[in-house]
Amino acid sequence: MALNHTSASPQGAASPQPRRPLTVLGLESSCDDTAAAVLRLDPDGTAHVLAEAVVGQNSAHAPYGGVVPEIAARAHAERVDGLAAQVLADAGLAAAELDGVAATAGPGLIGGVMAALMTAKGIALGAGISLIAVNHLEGHALSARLTEQLAFPYLLLLVSGGHTQLAAVHGVGEVVRYGSTLDDAAGEAFDKTAKIMGLGFPGGPAVERFAKEARDPGRFPMPRMLARDKSCDFSFAGLKTAARRAWDGLDAPDDEDRADLAASVQRAIAAHLSERAGRAMAQFRSEHSDVTAPVIVAAGGVAANGAVRQALKQTAQAEGFSLLAPPLKYCTDNAAMIALAGAERLALGIRDGLDAPARARWPLDAKAAAAAPASGGGRKGPKA
Ligand code: KG4
Ligand code: ZN
Repeated sequence: MALNHTSASPQGAASPQPRRPLTVLGLESSCDDTAAAVLRLDPDGTAHVLAEAVVGQNSAHAPYGGVVPEIAARAHAERVDGLAAQVLADAGLAAAELDGVAATAGPGLIGGVMAALMTAKGIALGAGISLIAVNHLEGHALSARLTEQLAFPYLLLLVSGGHTQLAAVHGVGEVVRYGSTLDDAAGEAFDKTAKIMGLGFPGGPAVERFAKEARDPGRFPMPRMLARDKSCDFSFAGLKTAARRAWDGLDAPDDEDRADLAASVQRAIAAHLSERAGRAMAQFRSEHSDVTAPVIVAAGGVAANGAVRQALKQTAQAEGFSLLAPPLKYCTDNAAMIALAGAERLALGIRDGLDAPARARWPLDAKAAAAAPASGGGRKGPKA
């Protein structure tokens, strides 16, 4: 349990500014982290995380090399009520003193999503407070506003185990997608590479650890994905195939081979992400010539990767953007970002009924929601 008091004061025309402080409990259980947080949003738009807790499930899923939905759902159901009570106690608040309770209502593994959403509904009903059903992707999109003064609009690169997308964030509930993955998510590319080499789960941190020991990070040639494609979309499936082929071609591979292959794949992922982000930056600039100091936010678990951050930083500098990456604990799944999204919605007068559905798929941008794409938009599923 980490008790934390962080704050930020996001200013901007589209920033919701409540008339009085709003205190919101946030709950998250859409993948393999159960999390709860209490947050206060002040009238000047400053966010204060009053208490937060997160419990992961890595050891439960590690034997399977990926998240097992049934195991995840059971673990969330066992823990989420206790975590909610814990953060309320840490914040010194009773549920009835809250203005609202926000829960991720999708996209995600449906059994997991239901755990936090049902708990939130119970609390809302019992305490007579507002319910806010939050899109998990909106939580990631707003997460940098937990700790930074960040005005709308900004560019978002969301790179996690289930999502890879570039979007312009114009405000709460106002997101325009520039591109998304055509196949695997960036986190999956890391996780699958780790699985091929038997590095354990979750794969991203393991690949990064091994890559640091590489003697020859360019030893295994990797394809340049979507080399002739002029869009902001991503593709990672070719990397997985190249990694598999390289690994199968090795005779009795050792840790030196693992390190070189990890570094080769990591470099290719970082290059692909930063190249596509560079395109999106150019598009953002052409659409927002009035924004004098443009910002790109890198969110999601893959944004924790040092090589990815470095590559993005270089591209951002070249394009005249500042790169903002939330602190590690807010890059990965957390409940503070869900509480913030809930509070910002509440400040705009948005709340949900007790019949709010849990959604396995829920694209963030309205256009994608209408088109209901076969992949990419709001997909989030098992990482393995
Ligand atoms: O955002 P997140 O915690 O959960 C999802 O919503 O998916 O992201 C998890 C993903 C996993 O695929 C994990 O391997 C990857 O983020 N990840 C990393 C690193 N830390 C986590 N990938 C590369 N390098 C890292 N250091
Ligand atoms: Zn996430």
